[in-house]
Amino acid sequence: MSISCYENVSEDVKKLIKMDTQNTSYVIGIVDDDMFVGHMYYGVRLNDYHLAHVLRIQEIPFLPSKNNRERTSFLDSFPMEYPTYGLGDYREDCISIETKGGHRGLSLQYVSDKVYEGKPALEGLPASFGDEDACSSVEICCEDPYTGLQVELLYTVFDKRDVITRSVKVINKGEDALHVTKVFSACLDMDNRDFEVVSLHGSWARERQIQSVPVSHGKFSVESVRGESSHQDHPFMAIRTRGTNQEHGEVYAMHFVYSGNFKAAVQNDQFDQIRMVMGIHPENFKWKLEPGQAFQAPEVVMLYTQDGMGGMTRILHDFYRNHLIRGEYKDKKRPILLNNWEATYFDFNTDKLIGIAKQASRLGIEMLVMDDGWFGNRFDDNRALGDWTVNEEKLPGGLKYLADEVNKLGMKLGIWFEPEMISPDSDLYRAHPDWAIAIPGRPGSLCRNQYVLDLSRRDVLEHVYESIAKVLRSANIEYVKWDMNRQLSDLGSAFLPADQMGELYHRYVLGVYELQGRMTEEFPYLLLENCSGGGGRFDPGMLYYSPQIWCSDDTDAIERLKIQEGTALIYPLSTMGAHVSDCPNHVLGRVTPFETRGHVALSGTFGYELDVTKIPEEDRRMIPEQVSMYHKYNDLIRQGDYYRIASYSENHFYDCYGVVDKDKKEALYTFVQVLNRPNRHSERLYFRGLDPDRWYRIEGEEETFSGDVLMNAGYLLQSLEGDFKSKLIHIVERSE
Ligand code: DGJ
Repeated sequence: MSISCYENVSEDVKKLIKMDTQNTSYVIGIVDDDMFVGHMYYGVRLNDYHLAHVLRIQEIPFLPSKNNRERTSFLDSFPMEYPTYGLGDYREDCISIETKGGHRGLSLQYVSDKVYEGKPALEGLPASFGDEDACSSVEICCEDPYTGLQVELLYTVFDKRDVITRSVKVINKGEDALHVTKVFSACLDMDNRDFEVVSLHGSWARERQIQSVPVSHGKFSVESVRGESSHQDHPFMAIRTRGTNQEHGEVYAMHFVYSGNFKAAVQNDQFDQIRMVMGIHPENFKWKLEPGQAFQAPEVVMLYTQDGMGGMTRILHDFYRNHLIRGEYKDKKRPILLNNWEATYFDFNTDKLIGIAKQASRLGIEMLVMDDGWFGNRFDDNRALGDWTVNEEKLPGGLKYLADEVNKLGMKLGIWFEPEMISPDSDLYRAHPDWAIAIPGRPGSLCRNQYVLDLSRRDVLEHVYESIAKVLRSANIEYVKWDMNRQLSDLGSAFLPADQMGELYHRYVLGVYELQGRMTEEFPYLLLENCSGGGGRFDPGMLYYSPQIWCSDDTDAIERLKIQEGTALIYPLSTMGAHVSDCPNHVLGRVTPFETRGHVALSGTFGYELDVTKIPEEDRRMIPEQVSMYHKYNDLIRQGDYYRIASYSENHFYDCYGVVDKDKKEALYTFVQVLNRPNRHSERLYFRGLDPDRWYRIEGEEETFSGDVLMNAGYLLQSLEGDFKSKLIHIVERSE
């Protein structure tokens, strides 16, 4: 068991709970007669538990039981596991309520704890999982004696993965209804050790760019109030000691398993202590709890490592591959697909698609994905969302005929949906205008000429599910791209009463989860790819339902270097939807070599986003080579350890990353020279992840090198001729 409890470890620490992973320890102390749940330590694994002194409780301000005169001073500086609002802790809190009388203050006292093997599921929510061999959990039950509000803090320790997950359940044990106005899922209090905060920011076509800034006095936050995790900010935050690089340095990270509004913040207080928090964004959140009712907050994945940013990356990759991603394709190679969006946009019919599929199948492509435009009156993006019946004008014989024809070519068929939306110009909207999220009497703000369906309503949710399921039952459809092309606004539901309107954002997300959960259960063979106007909802919550997510609408190979670097910082390569697209690129107008586009897409799920009947013959001829390259390397890419060697976003000239198999017998490094430079030496690449004591052969070269030399003395790569050029360096262990 990796969780141990110790009673009365000092006069003031009544109980100590110590959680250990292979390399880290996390320690909680129950302190004072008031039984505060304090945070004592998170960091390198400790063998000992005698650390009561770290709480500074002998210093001013004294503990409340010894000097209640300074209670607020105590509350405002004591390191809390789950700080509450309104009684004197003026830092960013984790929970606030509003009682019948309109009061907000809340305190939490430890009541009991329960330690057990394994991990419970979180009702209605995606969450990591693990059996009794993989993890153990502790539930700490706390109560506010004045309102009867109970809070259960759940911690699960994945000891072999160096990960601890946290979530929170709030139960109203009082006699009156109350509103929860804020409920975060995790908090980490500690001294500031000259930390920097790392986050991911972006925009449409520019998702997940890495940023780091010093943690200074005040607060730094990343957040979304858009109803989804968003293109703009990402539900991830890490703090690291200054000077941390890919291999060395301390990193603490939090990642939210949630797909809606979120807030992550780090605050440096008056005593140079920091508090890092993460949870559902409190803006427009107000959840009513009748006596006896409970609210389950989503999960935060938390880790600490001394092995730098690369260490963090590899911990998260392994954790998600083993404890979050599920389903048929969890560990499987994905079919190479061709998506017709950039090939045809809305201008397609069965003949055109079959023409493309015939050519594609000859080239080795394994699946045709029919994107937006196959249903209702959807001749452009101004109409028909919600009318999920096949447009027989475009597709005579319907989906069944198309699927059968595509299957005859030895290919699978996939289709696009945008189930959460409704166009004002649709039969669905004409029949049910009140099904859209809107403020009554106020014209709704359109985005891409569409509204969002009110998935907090059971009738709407059932209708949406049946519309999707009917289509999927009608033909052999083996893949779904689930898109979401606008963010939420005009928050209003014709179903929810006024005192529950603040539940809409979260109920909407729960509705999305229910739909995807039901769909993957009824159609377990389906490969689901989430998408949101590119990568606007790429988050761990979505990964629980779909093993891959479309990274970005920007398919330009050079822009993708930065987008994929930021994505791969925290997500396994097996999850990154990446395709070779046409040139000039449809977003940027940039022209890059077909080979480079192939090499860059190879580090994701791999596929094509172009009309194979129309591209230049020399590009088309390269496709079978790229197909065999995918088959040769995909196991390694999907399952291996990821190493960032050089970053184009930092050096502005070239990019290099590698994947090394778990046995260190094989590695693939991808080098992309963005801009050539005159009169330069060769580039010296310091490979990472190899075994220093083994000998390796570089494919295509005679000489062999020890891992030691390749990693420490480096490998010299001659500069490539021209800009936007790339090279794969495949390394295998030398056989004697
Ligand atoms: C946005 C997606 O990111 C694109 O790939 C495409 O599916 C369009 N939506 C279709 O409307």
